[in-house]
Amino acid sequence: MITSDPTASQTAGAIILHVNGEKHALTVDHRTTLLDALRERLDLTGTKKGCDHGQCGACTLLVDGRRSLSCLQLAVAAEGREITTIEGVAGQGADEGELHPVQQAFLEFDGFQCGYCTPGQICSAIAVIEEHAAGWPSAATGDVHPGAPPEPLTPEEIRERMSGNLCRCGAYTSIVRAVAHAAEAGAVRDARDEEAAA
Ligand code: FES
Ligand code: FES
Repeated sequence: MITSDPTASQTAGAIILHVNGEKHALTVDHRTTLLDALRERLDLTGTKKGCDHGQCGACTLLVDGRRSLSCLQLAVAAEGREITTIEGVAGQGADEGELHPVQQAFLEFDGFQCGYCTPGQICSAIAVIEEHAAGWPSAATGDVHPGAPPEPLTPEEIRERMSGNLCRCGAYTSIVRAVAHAAEAGAVRDARDEEAAA
């Protein structure tokens, strides 16, 4: 909801964004993307701008736990949603001060070179593991009939599910290994268990 604000004009409005567990009040032009609001207004520059056209996945973050391209989402449309950027994922699956298990896996398996696509890759990977664990099929899933037994998160599945995240350096082989390792280690399920136990 856009609240009234004396500084707001017909093309701007006051909003409150919930980012990484904190509330941020700001007035934005209605045309401002979530990506620009995060980077230019909140100094959260971990989320990267690659193409700005929904083509590369560099701007991927989590909105209410699901991956979203922030260059295609208006900031005003994100009001009231729980936004998690790469700056906030460490708090989700690890003890305080420790990396998220998916971040750790990217480090251990050299899942990046220049690192520009990496924040989006990691946010996407976290959601991929959750989507697979929840039984969501992909185009690489063999049997999508209701009641079909769950299929493993194979390299083919990971490549398909991560296909919206481009890496110009070609670190794909290591990215697939990192995602597979994090999934096998139960990264996201562990995080959920910790949250439930808290
Ligand atoms: S910057 Fe959003 S998809 Fe490329
Ligand atoms: S690590 Fe360089 S673009 Fe992905």
